[in-house]
Formats: sequence, structure tokens, C-alpha cells
Amino acid sequence: MRTVKAAIIGTGFIGPAHVEAARRLGGVEFAALAEAGRELAERKAAALGIPRACGDYRDVLADPEVEVIHNCTPNRMHFEINRAALRAGKHVISEKPLAMSSAETRALVAEARKAGVLAAVDFNYRSYPVVQEMRAMAADGRLGDLFLAQGSYLQDWLYLDTDYNWRLEPRLGGSPRAVGDIGSHWFDLFRHVTGQEIVAVSADFRTVHETRRRPRKAVETYAGRNLRPADYERVRIETEDCATIQFRTDSGAIGSLVVSQVSAGRKNRLYIELSGSKSALWWDQERPNELTVGRREKANELLIKDPALLSPAAAAFAHYPGGHPEGYPDGLKNLCREFYARVRDPKLRREPAAFATFLDGHRELAICEAVRESARRHAWVKVRG
Ligand SMILES: NC(=O)c1ccc[n+]([C@@H]2O[C@H](COP(=O)([O-])OP(=O)(O)OC[C@H]3O[C@@H](n4cnc5c(N)ncnc54)[C@H](O)[C@@H]3O)[C@@H](O)[C@H]2O)c1
Repeated sequence: MRTVKAAIIGTGFIGPAHVEAARRLGGVEFAALAEAGRELAERKAAALGIPRACGDYRDVLADPEVEVIHNCTPNRMHFEINRAALRAGKHVISEKPLAMSSAETRALVAEARKAGVLAAVDFNYRSYPVVQEMRAMAADGRLGDLFLAQGSYLQDWLYLDTDYNWRLEPRLGGSPRAVGDIGSHWFDLFRHVTGQEIVAVSADFRTVHETRRRPRKAVETYAGRNLRPADYERVRIETEDCATIQFRTDSGAIGSLVVSQVSAGRKNRLYIELSGSKSALWWDQERPNELTVGRREKANELLIKDPALLSPAAAAFAHYPGGHPEGYPDGLKNLCREFYARVRDPKLRREPAAFATFLDGHRELAICEAVRESARRHAWVKVRG
């Protein structure tokens, strides 16, 4: 197997998860790392065992040996870095959101086509084994006609007014915020599992903390718990902490989603439930190996992840036997597995992959923009793709 050289740009919370996921495959070597400044780059490169540290992302793009770029910077940097990486002829795995607006994502879709490279977005929940089983059940008729979908994505890491992160600032994180940051994962999951498009939305937003105490010195995601009162300044918050969204799909299904980053006790609770004419399916990310099939005519079934019990398409995403849980780090590994296989073998690129493409990333921005407009106008809004 040929070793592929990669580079990571941005190594806060999710960057190291990309490095770990790709390394677990074998045959991937991280040759370079870029961070916001040389000193930080050197510290992170030493911690991650990456030989070359760059204080400017353009230096890793100029390295002819690097074939794949993992863009794990804050949202504001995604467009510029993704476009530069494509123009340098690199394959790209971008963190979500693909960019800050649908105008930018549309441009990136065109750039990726022109460059003829692989371009993925890390909507990692797609690649869990039982999510793939849900997708197989929706595709092969075991769900039947989908008429209703519901779910939520709830977290509590922004529950207190002292919780702070760049995501809270629209110029850095974009707007909508909670919907863009985590609601986008739910919409992507729904689209991937059902194959249906969301065509109209009606949304309501609530900002629980209209002001927050911002640490005077920036802190990494999830890392701000040990600061003292004097370490903060008070700032106004312009983005939503939580949202309710109703939607319709292109096949006539209706649905609703609740999104929150301020729900105490909910850590990363992504929940999806699909009601079809043959059965219902429900899945909770915090119990990632369990898929429930709801029945009317007999007892419900609890499918516990086991490659021997999954459809062949879903079993390909399970790498441990039943009773050996696979979850968040494994979703990203599965994404990297499909992606790097296609980097190595261009013939595989014609075969469908589960990972989200830049076109999916564009679709997400279109949904988020419709949600934002709906909340502002208090009206149903069509999604313009
Ligand atoms: N798919 C997922 O499940 C998932 C989970 C978490 C975060 N994310 C996404 O990943 C991205 C990063 O989020 P995070 O939580 O890791 O943020 P973070 O703030 O913890 O890390 C961001 C890193 O990027 C670095 N950086 C900033 N500007 C840079 C530049 N110009 N060049 C190089 N590096 C730069 C920062 O120094 C920091 O180390 C976001 O877009 C977020 O939406 C996705």
C-alpha cells in the first residue's frame, strides 16, 4: 500500500482527532502541520509527532509531497484555505461548515470540480455503522414511505454565561450559530439516511444569554473552565443559543428539529427518529451502537451493532465484533478510510462513498441560511440550493 502524505491545518479540538483517525488507517503520514503562528505550530507539531511546523498555512500548500489537506481551522478561515488548497491541487477534507455563506460554498463546489480532486466535508456522523444500517433500511424498503421525521441536537457546553468560544461571534463562526454548528450535522444526517432534500423551513430562535462574559485571552473549545472573574469582559451576543425548526422535504415528509447548546446535562445528544409506513427507526448518538426498529404488529427490535447482523453495506463500516463499541472517533476514521482509498486509487472515485462532498456542504449552508431568514421573518422560507 502506497503511503500518502497529508498535512493538518488547525489543531485545537478537532484537528488532533483527524490526525488520529487517519493514522489509525495505516499508510497515511502527516508530513506537516500549520497553526496560527510559528510558536504554536512548533508546540503542536512536537505534541503530535509531526516533523514540519508552519506558522502560515500557505507553506504546507507549497509542499509538493503533501497530497491531502485536513482543514480544521475556525469557520472564518474555511473558504480561504479550502480554495487555496484546491488551487494548489490538493485533495481536501474540510471541517464543517464548508464556508461562511452559500455564495462561498457555491464557489468552492465549482473550484473543486475544476481542480478534479477529492473534496469532502467532515459530517462524521454519517459513517457510524448503525447509521449506515438506517440508510440501508430506508433505501431497501424496510422503513417504507417516510412521512415524519423528528429529532434534536442538544449540548450544554455553552450553558453558563461564562462559557465562551469564537463560535459565539458571527464574524468568526457565522450565523446561524447553534444551527450552523450542530443543527447542520442533524440535517446532513437526515439527508444522508433518507436521500430526501429539505425544501422549506420554519424556525424560531432564542438567545438565552444576551450578554456573556468573554475571557480576555482566547481559550480553545471546551477548555475555559478554570478562569477567575477578573479574567472576563462582558460582551453582547447576537446569535441563537437554541432553535426550533419545522421542515418539509421534496418527497412530502414533514419534520421538526430542536437544537440547543444550553441544555443542562445534554453533552452531545444527537437524536433522530424516522416514522415510515413499514416501521420506525430511532438512533441516539450517545448510544451509538444501538438502533431501534419500532413496530406496530410485533415487539420492537433493538439492533446492537454487530457486523454479522448488519447489511453488507453497513458492515463495511464496522471494524470490531458485536459488543465492542464503535463511536465518534470511528466515524471520522471511516470517513478517512473511504477518502484515502480514493486518493490512492482514482478508479474507486467512480464508486459512491458515504462521506459528504463539497456539494453536500453547500446544501447545508443553503438550509442554514433559510433557517436564519425564517427566524428573522417569522415565516416559512424555501431552501434555495
Ligand atoms: N465534525 C465535527 O464533529 C466537528 C467537531 C468539532 C469542531 N468541528 C469544526 O472544526 C473546526 C475547528 O473547531 P475546533 O473546535 O477544533 O476549534 P478550536 O478553536 O479548538 O481549534 C481551531 C484551531 O485552529 C487554529 N487556527 C486559527 N487560525 C488559524 C490559521 N490561520 N492557520 C492555522 N491554524 C489556525 C487555532 O489556533 C486552533 O488551534 C470548526 O470549523 C468546527 O465547526 C467539527
